[in-house]
Amino acid sequence: MRDVAVIGVGCTTFGEKWDTSFRDLFVEAGALALEDAGVSGEQIGAMYVGNMSAGRFIEQEHIGALIADYAGLASTHIPSTRVEAACASGGLSFRQAFISVASGLEDIVVAAGVEKMTDVASGASVDALAGAADREWEGFVGATFPGLYAMIAHEYMSRYPLTREQLAQVAVKNHYNGARNPIAQFQQEISLETVLKSTLVADPLRLFDCSPITDGAAAVVLAPLEVARKFTDTPVRVLASAQASDTIALHDRRDISTLDATVAAGKRAFAMAGITPKEIDLVEVHDCFTIAEICAIEDLGFCRKGEAGRLTEEGVTALDGDLPVNTSGGLKACGHPVGATGIKQVCEVVMQLRGQAGKRQVDGARIGMTHNVGGTGATVAVHILGV
Ligand code: COA
Repeated sequence: MRDVAVIGVGCTTFGEKWDTSFRDLFVEAGALALEDAGVSGEQIGAMYVGNMSAGRFIEQEHIGALIADYAGLASTHIPSTRVEAACASGGLSFRQAFISVASGLEDIVVAAGVEKMTDVASGASVDALAGAADREWEGFVGATFPGLYAMIAHEYMSRYPLTREQLAQVAVKNHYNGARNPIAQFQQEISLETVLKSTLVADPLRLFDCSPITDGAAAVVLAPLEVARKFTDTPVRVLASAQASDTIALHDRRDISTLDATVAAGKRAFAMAGITPKEIDLVEVHDCFTIAEICAIEDLGFCRKGEAGRLTEEGVTALDGDLPVNTSGGLKACGHPVGATGIKQVCEVVMQLRGQAGKRQVDGARIGMTHNVGGTGATVAVHILGV
């Protein structure tokens, strides 16, 4: 297997983008990534595009070919493949691109993600998202994503010492980081009171415990490490790529307060990179709801079960803490265009490791991790990157 590096990154701004179409979002992110890498379209050997539900959101399927066409690459007949794993589509698209370069099959490969969620009413987008869970045993009986994560929160809070204020602090921290990220959907800081007094969505989760509905796209360019320096002075190595799966329905899990697929993918990633959690300088975790960030910090092995709430309250996961978590603002404040999120996480870590993260820069960051979850944890992708 060859060593692989990220040589270019690009993201659109995230939010309600009424004036930009699905295909324009992808073209914008792709062009930014190619420009950053100094690569032309003809040099690309293959493309992987993470997308969860264009069929439901914009009534368009056949996304791989559509993207290649609108990227101006139809005449090169480039292999272009859509990757779908619900909200982990982006993470898996990055993994497919990594495997393609590592195996020696292709040299320059684009991994991208795109979702346009706001062209339908919010009830329709919540219903499309419910397709990431078990439609027959969860969706058809009324379970929505906020509802499923609310069950995780209840179970967690009945077993471990997590206060409502500690949970709210996850959102406060992520909005603080989002306020320092020019692509974020929400760029305003919020107080604990804002979270605690916001509308109840699914007890105990309130509006500000939830990630929003978002449009956006992100793209990265990968190359073999041995040629990466021809394109950039700061190649970022992919030290590990791991994936794990679990039961699709929450009620079939061993313990719903732990995401076993996160535990498995995290262990595999640390083993592949040959490092321990202590060596990670920053991590982008899948905080689709505040409780998901609490579980992720523990399930990835950064602390013991039941400790993440206290660590969040003490500022350990803050921008200037020992383990900055979600420096981009996370899904909560940066936004969550589901198919794009896993790639945006990689963009954020790459920018941090290059020292290009501006007001949210983590001093001296050398190793970063991404954690991308599909559904309530039926698919998990974990990557470790380093310079
Ligand atoms: N955080 C903060 N503010 C939010 C928000 C969020 N997550 N979602 C919406 N808002 C704001 C909007 O900006 C809007 O503010 P404005 O009135 O000042 O313009 C207001 O709240 C109402 O927005 P609206 O779009 O009508 O919200 P909604 O009630 O239809 O949807 C949720 C809110 C929480 C139900 C929806 O965002 C949701 O389902 N989120 C979870 C998405 C999800 O499950 N993703 C997959 C996870 S794996």
